[in-house]
Parts: sequence; structure tokens; C-alpha cells
Amino acid sequence: MNNSHRPESDQAKTLRNLNNSHQPTTIPDYQDRITCVYSVTSGKGGVGKTAVTANLAYSLANLGKRVLILDADLGLANIDVVFGLTPNYNLNHFFSGEQQLDDILVEGPLGIKILPAGSGVQNFIRLDGHQKMRLLDALGAMHDTFDYVLIDTEAGISENVTYFNTAAQEILVVTTPEPTAITDAYALMKLLSTTYHEKHFNLVVNQIETEDDALDVYKKLTMVANRYLDISIDFFGSIPRDRQMIDAIRKQRVITEFLPNSKISSSFGRLANRICLEPVHSPPKGNLQFFWNRLLNLGG
Ligand SMILES: Nc1ncnc2c1ncn2[C@@H]1O[C@H](COP(=O)(O)OP(=O)(O)O)[C@@H](O)[C@H]1O
Ligand SMILES: [Mg+2]
Repeated sequence: MNNSHRPESDQAKTLRNLNNSHQPTTIPDYQDRITCVYSVTSGKGGVGKTAVTANLAYSLANLGKRVLILDADLGLANIDVVFGLTPNYNLNHFFSGEQQLDDILVEGPLGIKILPAGSGVQNFIRLDGHQKMRLLDALGAMHDTFDYVLIDTEAGISENVTYFNTAAQEILVVTTPEPTAITDAYALMKLLSTTYHEKHFNLVVNQIETEDDALDVYKKLTMVANRYLDISIDFFGSIPRDRQMIDAIRKQRVITEFLPNSKISSSFGRLANRICLEPVHSPPKGNLQFFWNRLLNLGG
């Protein structure tokens, strides 16, 4: 695996300094560390959630950020496949007591950590009190702490998806310019806002041909949202359709690592920069333990 870093750009340095200024100078313990949790979600499947999660993780890691991916997507092209990894275990092995949490974590390029939920994702939200305590203890004791946690969710409006989206601090909605993808993205935001009181969404338009495609999608969504829903949508960026994605997958590498100087990799870099510029929540909301607690409590 090629873990070589590109030379850090001035912009990356500025971003790093900016973000560092949010960090407390002394970090007493895990409880006070700031972690931003983003769910990467969509109404329709196949729009590129997994691709966005993996490449965004790589681009954030390239800016020096420590990233954990929670792979909560049961679809075929999972995060491990995209990174060319073969995890031996998933959360079910932890729930059954066969493995410790540390043994389930897999390491990708640039130190990215991946927590494969596997089919354990269905159990995640239905744990009994004892299992929840055990999981929270293990998560709290995880040696590494992270600047960003990205959750690759399933598509649609199943219970799983809504729990992860509600527990995350920020929701990144991925769509393509395809009409059904836009309609399904709207349906997801509608459900999350009316039933779960989520009022803010961030939008990424994937697989665009021209920049106008992305603006068109954003305009359509904000127009109906302003009319029928009480929500705000931030445009976070667009990613071009790139046939070389297929080559990258064949090589079992993410495209941002495989072709760092391509147009698509620059788009992912801009998306990572955009995210780094977002105001950071202070604890407890910007605290990883807070997120795990919320997730497990939402599960009843
Ligand atoms: N920007 C893109 N350009 C070309 N192909 C893409 C792009 N984004 C995703 N794909 C391809 O589309 C397919 C679906 O993407 P995936 O990330 O698995 O979607 P999801 O996780 O939303 O189901 C995959 O084969 C992926 O390689
Ligand atoms: Mg996927």
C-alpha cells in the first residue's frame, strides 16, 4: 500500500492551523476531545455514498486528520472492498464476545481506521442494557481518538438509517443529478425533518457532467424544501463522473490515492477542505462518547 503523502499545500496548512485553533491546548481525557461525526447518506442506492465516504476519508487524512469510518452499509460495494481490505471480523464477533473491539478495527491507507459493522449493524440498535454498557466501555477505551467519524449508511429510510442520521452531528446527503435520486434525497430529508426534527443538511452532488448539473440539483432541492419543509441545506460540493473509478476499484485503491492529481481527486480535496472549515461543535455535542451514547439510546 502506498502511504506517501503529497506535499502539503498552503491551503492545507492554513486549514490545519485554523482547525487546530479550535482544539483545547491541554486535553485532560478522552471525554473532552472534539470529534465531528458525519453520516453519509442517500435516499436512493448506488449514488456513491461508499465512494464519497472512502475518498472523503482519504482526503481528510491527507490534511492530517485522524479518521474513523463506521461501515454501516450492508450493500455489496462496501468500504473494505473499496480500500482493498478483507476484515476478518465485524461487530457481531464483538457482540458474541469472540473478539475485542480493537481486533475488529481494520487499518486503511494514511492510518484511516475502519469499523466494519457487517450484519451487526442490525443488532447495533437492539442491544440489551448489558451489551450496550460493554460496547460503550470498549468504544470509550479505544486507544485512538479521531477528528472525524464518517458513517457510511445504507440507502433509504429504514430504521437503521434514521438512527445513524439522528445520532450524527452532521448529515451529508449524497445524490446524483438523476431525477429519482433527487426525489429520494428529498423524501429522506422530509422524513428526517418531520419525524426526527433534523433541520440541517449538507448536500454533495455526485456523478455530475458539468458544474451546472450540481447547481441545478441544489436549486431544485432548496426550492421544494423552502416551500414545504422547515430545513436548511448547505451545498458542500460536487464530484464529477469519472470512468477511472472502475480502474481504481480494480486496483483496490480509492481514486484519491490512485490518481491524486485527477479532477475527481481535486473535488474530493475541496470537499474535505469545506468540511474542515465548518465550525466545530464543542463537547459534549462534539464528543465521540456523546455520539455513541445517543446512538445506543436511540435504539431504545
Ligand atoms: N463520481 C463517480 N464517477 C464514476 N463512478 C462512480 C462515481 N461515484 C460512484 N461511482 C460508482 O457507482 C457505483 C455505486 O457507488 P457506491 O459508492 O457503491 O454507491 P452507494 O454506496 O451509494 O450504493 C460504484 O460502482 C462506484 O464505483
Ligand atoms: Mg454503499
